[in-house]
Amino acid sequence: MVQHSKLRKAVFPVAGLGTRFLPATKAVPKEMLTVVDKPVIQYVVDEAAEAGIEHFVFVTGRGKGVIEDYFDIQFELEQTLKARNKNAELTLLSGLLPKAGSASFTRQQEPLGLGHAVWCARDIVGGEPFALLLPDMIMRAEKGCLKGMVELYENTGGNVIAVEECAPDQAHKYGIVGVGEQLEGGFRITEMVEKPAKGTAPSNFFINGRYILQPEIFAILETQERGAGNEIQLTDGMLKLAKTQAFAGYHFKGQTFDCGAKDGFILANVSFAIERADIRPMIEEPLKALLAALK
Ligand code: UTP
Repeated sequence: MVQHSKLRKAVFPVAGLGTRFLPATKAVPKEMLTVVDKPVIQYVVDEAAEAGIEHFVFVTGRGKGVIEDYFDIQFELEQTLKARNKNAELTLLSGLLPKAGSASFTRQQEPLGLGHAVWCARDIVGGEPFALLLPDMIMRAEKGCLKGMVELYENTGGNVIAVEECAPDQAHKYGIVGVGEQLEGGFRITEMVEKPAKGTAPSNFFINGRYILQPEIFAILETQERGAGNEIQLTDGMLKLAKTQAFAGYHFKGQTFDCGAKDGFILANVSFAIERADIRPMIEEPLKALLAALK
């Protein structure tokens, strides 16, 4: 166990344009698209709460006001539910609400990249470590990904990035890390490469969208030049931070769905629906029939 500051805050950058989901994202933020019956963002916030996060920081942007409304009470709806004795629905809604004062919202006025979105959270996060959860990646596992990362962080301190294994011939699509000394639940990260050229990846461990970062990242992002795609890239900032601080990789063994992409979103819906005892009996046979018809 090393000396480390407790992790209390999590940042959710929800200011991206979601162009891969047009036309839906013209009017609905992609984080509000539903997987079964909950918006994608709810899964990610639940994962953070399970890991002990106390303060939820949302970096929003134009057209994302509905996210702020979603994490507030809906007075008229709740009055109507009360009047109709819909107690189960009322309990469901109140159970999902963050405690008063435990959610903050700040704006990224222009979508200048993930690194810039993270930097926009600097004043709310202050000088403490924070979790960063990409709000379009949702995970299925017995133990939440961030919870496992926090356990590793308690032993290592520093920065922690969650990684997963991909097929080696797919490594060129991801941010890939180099593997050093083994740790309980993970390993020391020796290098990070964003989308390595085919055949050059240092491993098949890809970065899956969950991070624990030290606040020194903010000063680095502040002066950072634009990188790939003319955006301020988080990976470029982390590479600079890695020159002075340790990074550990948490080996996540569950399943990740990239709900910012159509295939990941559809698979997430099917996968989470199959797990639900109230839904599985209704869809099992039709799904089997659909798959059989594909042959
Ligand atoms: P993505 O690149 O996956 O999201 O960024 P995007 O830009 O919204 O999607 P496409 O590619 O146009 O379909 C990863 C996360 O970072 C946030 C996004 O909201 C997403 O959750 N992000 C990205 C910001 O908050 N601000 C940015 O400037 C860029």
